[in-house]
Amino acid sequence: MGPITRREGLGLTLGAAAIAFAPQVLARSRAPSLNSLAAAKGMRFGSCIASGGGGSIANSRYTGLIERECGLLVPENELKWQTIRPSATTFDFTRFDAILDYAMRKKIPVRGHTLLWHRSKWMPKWLEAHDFGTRPATAAASMMTNHIETVFKRYNGRMKSLDVVNETVMPEDGTLAQTALSTAIGGTETLVDLAFHTARAAAPGVQLVYNDYMSWEPGNEKHRTGVLKLLEGFRKRGTPVDALGVQSHLIAGRKPQEREWRDFMDAVTAMKFDLLITEFDVRDADLPSDIKVRDREIAATTRAYLDMMFSYPGLRDVLAWGMADPYSWLQGFEPRADGRPTRGCPYDGNFVAKPMRTAFAAAFLAASKRG
Ligand code: XIL
Repeated sequence: MGPITRREGLGLTLGAAAIAFAPQVLARSRAPSLNSLAAAKGMRFGSCIASGGGGSIANSRYTGLIERECGLLVPENELKWQTIRPSATTFDFTRFDAILDYAMRKKIPVRGHTLLWHRSKWMPKWLEAHDFGTRPATAAASMMTNHIETVFKRYNGRMKSLDVVNETVMPEDGTLAQTALSTAIGGTETLVDLAFHTARAAAPGVQLVYNDYMSWEPGNEKHRTGVLKLLEGFRKRGTPVDALGVQSHLIAGRKPQEREWRDFMDAVTAMKFDLLITEFDVRDADLPSDIKVRDREIAATTRAYLDMMFSYPGLRDVLAWGMADPYSWLQGFEPRADGRPTRGCPYDGNFVAKPMRTAFAAAFLAASKRG
């Protein structure tokens, strides 16, 4: 038995009168997990997980939380080129294998992220400097197809959904990103289409996702337009893309463009793309230091966003980009000016649920059941 909680303590001192409330107290202490709340609506809730460090399979407190709340996992970095491609001729699956083995043991499904994070910054250095020889288009195509086929050959059947391409639309102007690989092959569209066709051929039943971070705050207009253009192109050319992964790295404290966001989502779903929330977290750099104020704002942003997103029946999978604040990438990538830790995850550093977790639960409860 753990320590007596305040609520249980109250029950004890109130004696007989409180006994009537006991089942409720019990029910509360056994609050349904986020994934079970999601499952009741035909949805799933999950998170990213790492192979090492605090937010990883190596931290038993973290895995305890993951196992309690999550019905879906995604590797934070372990399937990216930077991890699995030490060189042009080699693969290293050690770290991803560790995550998959863990998830299989716990019977938690894993989705893949990502076969092509199409930004120079996120490609291995050797690849950006690679000499594609005298027939660069052929060499680049074979490097792309070999990469994807090797991953599927090894893991086929174990992942039912994958972010095939990640972030190839430039937020500044909506154009497509270029890398050494896309330059060698003769254009980003060619490269991205090849990635999806290769994935479809290698794993016909797998959900193939285009994943990006266009968001609902002002400033994302060109990013959204660029993503729509890319998705339209996929449909026109018959590129096999099943769903849009909406990363959902939100920013609290900025008034969202709700109408424009709805227009964007309506346009995406009109083209018959399914939806996933792939990387949910909330940045709090604009908010004051006070933790109560921040947590309240973050929860309100979470709830408003999830309500809007859950109104689309094509959305089933919802993943947080980390479950506990101290291990979130935001600590390093979006540090606060006041130096205090960011609070963009559902749990804090003591593994205590925050108002954001309550907002998730409430949104799942309010969601309509998916058919
Ligand atoms: C981030 C990881 O969380 C960091 O550990 C890593 O250093 C950089 O990548 N969009 C994505 C994710 O698609 O892969 C990124 O993950 C966060 C932004």
